[in-house]
Amino acid sequence: MSKPLLIGPFTQLLPMSGLPLKGALSDEQLPIIEKGGLVVYEGKILDIGIFEDLKSDDVEVHQLEGNHVCLPGFIDAHTHICFGGSRARDYAYRNSGKTYLEIAKAGGGIWDTVTQTRKASQEDLVEGIISRSVTHLKNGVTTIEVKSGYGLSVEEELKMLRAIKQADRKTLADLVPTCLAAHMKPKDWDGDKNYLEEIASKLFLQLKSEGLANRIDAFIEESAFSSQEIAPYFQKARELGFDITVHADQFTTGGSEVAIQFDAISADHLEASTEKEIQLLAKSDVIATALPGASLGLGCDFTPARKLLDAGGVLAIASDHNPGSAPMGDLLTQASILGTFEKLSNAEVLAGITFRASAALNLEDRGTLEVNKLADFVIFPTDNYQEITYHQGQLKPNAVWKNGKQIE
Ligand code: NIG
Ligand code: FE
Repeated sequence: MSKPLLIGPFTQLLPMSGLPLKGALSDEQLPIIEKGGLVVYEGKILDIGIFEDLKSDDVEVHQLEGNHVCLPGFIDAHTHICFGGSRARDYAYRNSGKTYLEIAKAGGGIWDTVTQTRKASQEDLVEGIISRSVTHLKNGVTTIEVKSGYGLSVEEELKMLRAIKQADRKTLADLVPTCLAAHMKPKDWDGDKNYLEEIASKLFLQLKSEGLANRIDAFIEESAFSSQEIAPYFQKARELGFDITVHADQFTTGGSEVAIQFDAISADHLEASTEKEIQLLAKSDVIATALPGASLGLGCDFTPARKLLDAGGVLAIASDHNPGSAPMGDLLTQASILGTFEKLSNAEVLAGITFRASAALNLEDRGTLEVNKLADFVIFPTDNYQEITYHQGQLKPNAVWKNGKQIE
């Protein structure tokens, strides 16, 4: 039997543990273990502390030379990396001043990706997810939430979610699937039937029986579904025990109140949230997930992250990686830039992509480096953790470990 493995020394080891889930954080609150080490065994953390103190005959040593900063593996709690085709044309149209409606009329928007995703085979989708998750992994992201939502029929949504499940088996990252069949009203839908009723009655149980998703998401927006339309859909999802998450307040408000009403785990986007929504979210247990990649892709305001934190809310930060609004897909770059514009401390940025992001996925086994948590961590070639956000994503990890194994 192999022995536990001691990895280190890390110039700085940031376990991100013992910090509050809610509210503002200062860098002074960050616990830092200097000359730290991690002992890993069977995919989990067996011990954490000062490297020299952890040495013994019972452990093998993976010795590091030079300067290293170690953090928990990053968690991207909101992506749409299962899709076919590209929307470079939409991006060019937007940048030349075309409106959302004009782009949709010219054959662009979410429906364009639906058409291209429906044309793709399940295998094509699996390949696309794997290649995108490899890029995320290289950047230190070890857990990735992946939404459906470009199928928009029972069969096509199943194809996407089966592809996500298949890709999860083939990639080293952990993929967390979410059903976003309520992404928009399908343009080819027979107007006599209620789309959401059909999805709730024909897809929800199938998701359970095939183990395809435990999470239900909906886009609440003028161009997608109203709060009233979504209520019975979320009610059904809750009765069946699904976790709920919402695309909320992206262009107009309303979604975050629905998220609170249905005890959603998270309300994501929130670029349009006003003081009223900020206060309501902060008082609730709903995690506010900022998606700076969508602000950068669309050229619009950032989520009011500073205000949400100061009001006492929980802030996670995710990439929203998708072919339309957020094609960049670089979580650390985007989180760092959000920090610059919203005046977030390093602690708040790093919390948003580690333990606050794991809370947004209801995953208790990761997000911090503590005994018995998954041995998922990322190592940067520097002596000072502040260099990481300072380089806005250009300081790349020199190693990534997943389940106690070095994979990058
Ligand atoms: O999170 N807002 C709705 N859905 C996605 C965009 C999807 C797309 O444009 O393809 C988002 O930004
Ligand atoms: Fe999204």
